[in-house]
Amino acid sequence: MAYTTIQTKTEGRVGVITLDRPKALNALCDALTAELTEALAGFEADDAIGCVVLTGSAKAFAAGADIKELQEKDFISLYRHDPFEKTWESVARFRKPIIAAVSGYALGGGCEIAMMCDFIIASETARFGQPEINLGVMPGAGGTQRLPRAVGKAKAMDMCLTGRMMGAEEAERAGLVSRVVPVDELMDVVMEAAQTIASKSLPIAMMTKEAVNMAFEMGLSEGVRFERRVFQSQFATEDQSEGMAAFADKRAPHFRHR
Ligand code: HXC
Repeated sequence: MAYTTIQTKTEGRVGVITLDRPKALNALCDALTAELTEALAGFEADDAIGCVVLTGSAKAFAAGADIKELQEKDFISLYRHDPFEKTWESVARFRKPIIAAVSGYALGGGCEIAMMCDFIIASETARFGQPEINLGVMPGAGGTQRLPRAVGKAKAMDMCLTGRMMGAEEAERAGLVSRVVPVDELMDVVMEAAQTIASKSLPIAMMTKEAVNMAFEMGLSEGVRFERRVFQSQFATEDQSEGMAAFADKRAPHFRHR
């Protein structure tokens, strides 16, 4: 597929999507969001893909929604034909594991898209922020909801109300990112994590992510009940039989991913 604002490739069972509008610091214009939605749908449908990596450039993961496009919108056009809704849903509801590899700016919609991924691995140069307040608006793609869940109320309020950026170290301390690595090692570390995930049973990995995400939707006893039922159902899969047999036989498991 020939894209103009993103690049895609596969390495083994990992699909990589690279946001690629360098002149605009990967601002999320309509063309880019449409291509991202299409690329995600392709990887979702492809049985040979077990994990996806979403990344940008060394300078910017994404500097947010494209402000030059956004300034032309009015309430009715956004309400009636929200250009972002499909894309945000395609990331937030992506069923396979998806990792954000963030270097440089992850601002506004860029920070929000990274937070929609299952986890973020950041380079030392990563800078996260919700600067929408400087534009006379507030975050509109989950920032006011996912950021406090990730970093707590104090830092989320601080970032959304002042518009300040948070560096990689602070983001790791606050729980926004899972690991911080030197910039030139970012893709190696992320690809290793992605290949590890993709080597597991795909349906079990999908159920695991679904259960962790339920922690943000449900109360504790409901969530634990949900987990228990899904755990029990995994005993109907070939991959559970294989995983446990391989342990008993002291050999590596050969998951069939189904
Ligand atoms: C459109 C953008 C852009 C953006 C950068 N550019 N961010 N274009 N939308 N979000 C463009 C600039 O216009 C410029 O193009 C080029 O990229 C390089 O940017 P500079 O500003 O010259 O670079 P620098 O001085 O290094 O500053 C980097 C920056 C700054 C700090 C990231 O660009 C910046 O503050 N960008 C806006 C960040 C932001 O407010 N994001 C939130 C957007 S609103 P030219 O053609 O001039 O060279 C949002 C809402 C989402 O995300 C909600 C959706 C529902």
